[in-house]
Amino acid sequence: MTRGIRWVAGSGPGHDEREGAATRGLPSCPSIRYEDRESPRALRLPMTAIPQSRLVTIFGGSGFVGRHIVRALANEGWRIRIAVRRPHVAHFLRPMGRVGQIQLLKTNVRNDDDVAAALDGADAVINLVALIKQSGAQRFDAIHVEGSERVARLAAAAGVKRLIHFSALGASTEAPARYFRTKATGENRVQDAFGGATIVRPALVFGAEDDFFNRFAGLIRMMPLFFPLFGGGKTRFQPVFVGDVARAAATLLGDETSAGKIYELAGPEEMTLKQVLELTLRETNRKRVLIPVPLVIARIKGAFLQFVPGAPLTYDQAKMLETDTLPSGRAPGLRDLGITPTGPEAIVPSYLWRFRKRGQFEALPQ
Ligand SMILES: NC(=O)c1ccc[n+]([C@@H]2O[C@H](COP(=O)([O-])OP(=O)(O)OC[C@H]3O[C@@H](n4cnc5c(N)ncnc54)[C@H](OP(=O)(O)O)[C@@H]3O)[C@@H](O)[C@H]2O)c1
Repeated sequence: MTRGIRWVAGSGPGHDEREGAATRGLPSCPSIRYEDRESPRALRLPMTAIPQSRLVTIFGGSGFVGRHIVRALANEGWRIRIAVRRPHVAHFLRPMGRVGQIQLLKTNVRNDDDVAAALDGADAVINLVALIKQSGAQRFDAIHVEGSERVARLAAAAGVKRLIHFSALGASTEAPARYFRTKATGENRVQDAFGGATIVRPALVFGAEDDFFNRFAGLIRMMPLFFPLFGGGKTRFQPVFVGDVARAAATLLGDETSAGKIYELAGPEEMTLKQVLELTLRETNRKRVLIPVPLVIARIKGAFLQFVPGAPLTYDQAKMLETDTLPSGRAPGLRDLGITPTGPEAIVPSYLWRFRKRGQFEALPQ
């Protein structure tokens, strides 16, 4: 009989000592204890010990969502291979695990040989690679459709047991935005290529490094008096906390009953674009008049701005504003995984203070 080994989160603040707690907790500064299931005594291994456990390849593991998933899975003792195009800018991930636990591999999902090498010996795969803006060879079709299908097909050929594929809430072949249409086609191709793939559709994801609240806060800082309220600010979202998404990914990886299912991960409350901007203004302690602007103007602005480096809006993003991204209510979500969703009001104040005039030294009016 093989000896079962598990990692458990340590006893720092906010840690849950119950069995399996490490799958649900994302401690900010974990102390990790090594345990042997068959021994009543917890063993302590030196920091140089390499966990002899299963290997997960995470395509796109250096991105916003990926780094949180890497930390959650490192806490559970997975050996992690992070497959990205620019491993040299992803070394910040290594201290999330023990020595040798996390490795980086230069991989382009547009290339068969790269993907096959990244899958070598992997027990499980998570694919997070996606684009919000096209540039050069990085096209929505090449990444969301062909890249996703390539990872799924080669993972099946390599005998990988579990595949978690990240799509997005709002993915539909009928959606106005190409991002959502290619995400939907990608889902279908993944399901055809890898029987039992788990599809995860997160809502807009927020957290300290997000490109949502941070983006609005940055734009608000640049615009002195007014801020455009595209479509009257009526577009509805249900933003989900990145820490909850990471816990969900870790739970799904260990739960074989999730194979073949689609999960929709959304936060606890629905918000309109106007409410998102109001929260951003409040937390950055700034005042702007929100001026309603028709969605067609957003499209026109996006059509020109998308050619500017670091464009704040593209034509496709303007089209994304035309669709509410809310859970359908028909698919399982965070609560079905035992995770209570965290709302933006609880997290956003912890990082938007950077955009106040005097940063952390500026208190909000009571
Ligand atoms: N963030 C959100 O609000 C949100 C909402 C809904 C769904 N999602 C989905 O969640 C997933 C993760 O999103 P994210 O926000 O973490 O994305 P992200 O921050 O843009 O990260 C993308 C990752 O993909 C890698 N990558 C890009 N092109 C690649 C290629 N050709 N080959 C290999 N790696 C490549 C990037 O690293 P390199 O550049 O070094 O290659 C990076 O690690 C995506 O599927 C996204 O659609 C995100």
